[in-house]
Amino acid sequence: AHSLRESLFVVNQFASEYFQDILYNHIDGQRIGMTYLRSRGFRDDIIKKFQLGYSTDSHDALARTAKQKGYQEEFLVKTGLCYRKDDGSLRDRFWGRVIFPVHTLSGKVVAFGGRVLSAATKNVQMKYVNSPESEIYHKSRELYGIYFAKQAIVRQDRCFLVEGYTDVISMHQSGIENVVASSGTALTSDQIRLIHRFTNNITVLYDGDGAGIKASIRGIDMLLEEGMNIKVCLLPDGDDPDSFARKHNATDYQTYINEHEVDFIRFKTNLLMEEAGKDPIKRASLISSIVKSISVIPDSIVRSVYTRECSQLLQMEEKILIEAVNKLIEQAQ
Ligand code: CTP
Ligand code: MN
Ligand code: MN
Ligand code: MN
Ligand code: MN
Repeated sequence: AHSLRESLFVVNQFASEYFQDILYNHIDGQRIGMTYLRSRGFRDDIIKKFQLGYSTDSHDALARTAKQKGYQEEFLVKTGLCYRKDDGSLRDRFWGRVIFPVHTLSGKVVAFGGRVLSAATKNVQMKYVNSPESEIYHKSRELYGIYFAKQAIVRQDRCFLVEGYTDVISMHQSGIENVVASSGTALTSDQIRLIHRFTNNITVLYDGDGAGIKASIRGIDMLLEEGMNIKVCLLPDGDDPDSFARKHNATDYQTYINEHEVDFIRFKTNLLMEEAGKDPIKRASLISSIVKSISVIPDSIVRSVYTRECSQLLQMEEKILIEAVNKLIEQAQ
């Protein structure tokens, strides 16, 4: 007998194969789904590797096929693949979308993301629909792409962190495989520990828009607390890691990253300095924010390196910063 968790993984695996079957063998899968994916520049081998799929416009095609094959309604509902209407019948969550399966570290399908195809419907429909939380899916514990990235993360001893599904896929396609996505939300400590199993070094590569920059600052104290070395690389305004990958080959991409990645503390300091300008109150609050970031770093040598660097950036006496950092550490104990 299967446990409930096992049953949900089995249903997800079936659904993932179903969505792929539609993409490859159904007329709409080819005409609409595949056309869309190719128009985004995804190669066939990459589409296959990430097990991308398509769901037709039918609102219950998956539910009907699954039931025909003997899958229980209960599991279709508990995975979030379907939900029950008022009259008790099942309706598919994903329809008219390209499907991105989300894999666990060991490669099991734990959830799905579905993207609308037409830009015209963008305002009416959510761009992405995602699986809800379930007995097997806790969004805060998974990282999109980790299954495909883990070996490269170890090999390169570094992990790129991006926002979205398509960023991961495009970077793979251009030869950068040590990349995972937080799927649009702020990073959690579980996700950080997942990366930390493979490397100490993270480079955050977020969309070059305001939201991306803000997101790259949020959650970073958590990375520092974990003892990770963290860098930030901003892409040109208007680009995300996916669009950038389509304009540059792997070598140019790597060169851009190497030339533009900056240490996180330096990044945060410069950004906040720009924001604060000459306003003394804002400057004071930025300094305490930096001091707080430094104070959570577990390694005292790393802390003192940052303290020195920030005293130069902020043009403040190092001694004052050291005292402020130490005071916070004492308070936290
Ligand atoms: N996201 C989501 N739901 C939304 C918008 C975004 O779940 N309504 C998540 C997705 O995981 C998405 C990520 O946040 O991949 C980043 O969002 P965004 O930058 O808006 O999308 P892109 O990944 O760039 O997707 P695309 O290039 O297809 O527009
Ligand atoms: Mn470590
Ligand atoms: Mn974005
Ligand atoms: Mn994006
Ligand atoms: Mn994008």
